[in-house]
Amino acid sequence: MQKQDVPDVQNLRGRFIVIEGVDGSGISTQVVRLHAWLEERTGRKVLATKEPSEGPAGLVLRQALNKRLQGFSQEVLALLFAADRLDHVNHQIRPALDQGSHVICDRYLWSSLAYQGESAGGEWVEAINAKALKPDLTLFVRVEPEITMARIRNNRFQVDLFEKEAFLKRVLARFEHLVEKAQAEGETVAVIDGSMPIESVATAIQDRVQAFLA
Ligand code: TYD
Repeated sequence: MQKQDVPDVQNLRGRFIVIEGVDGSGISTQVVRLHAWLEERTGRKVLATKEPSEGPAGLVLRQALNKRLQGFSQEVLALLFAADRLDHVNHQIRPALDQGSHVICDRYLWSSLAYQGESAGGEWVEAINAKALKPDLTLFVRVEPEITMARIRNNRFQVDLFEKEAFLKRVLARFEHLVEKAQAEGETVAVIDGSMPIESVATAIQDRVQAFLA
């Protein structure tokens, strides 16, 4: 086989991009925008996915979040999120990356560390997620909980388990700590000001992803 016939696996493999933020920070809307932009820009297939996933553990989690299932401790929830994550990586994320698609994931490991870290313990949550695939790029959309709570009150009928302002302030502080730690460890992380209008946030995200892909 000639050298030029050897597939360049590094270039073939897609990039794994994660978007994180507190509830109401608009990340689901931004995933839709980024998906369309990234497909057009790169000409590659892009898988937009989210956690909790569509897999079996994700279904249980969604029922726990909307309180149709009750009685799970924070530790059990953390284990379910970790199980869902591995299953999601095995069945959706890794196969897509291996086929050359880029993957955008709405919430991932940082959500577990930020949301379950307080009651279940950050180190333990980290330990049960030790086998989770590392993202190539993490985008943190930063919005103050005062703003996200106002958005949630205006837009949603039902306020779920975690959507409490004081709690979300502590979640935000943990996200900020994760950003600092990741930056110190040389991981690729971008902080986006999510209080801007939707279009400006979308453009800021595209700029960061563009710089990352270059
Ligand atoms: P969901 O309604 O699916 O999405 P969103 O509110 O982001 O539009 O809610 C997901 C909730 O699950 C959200 O409150 C964050 C929480 N969560 C955790 O607590 N731990 C995790 O590991 C993940 C992935 C999500």
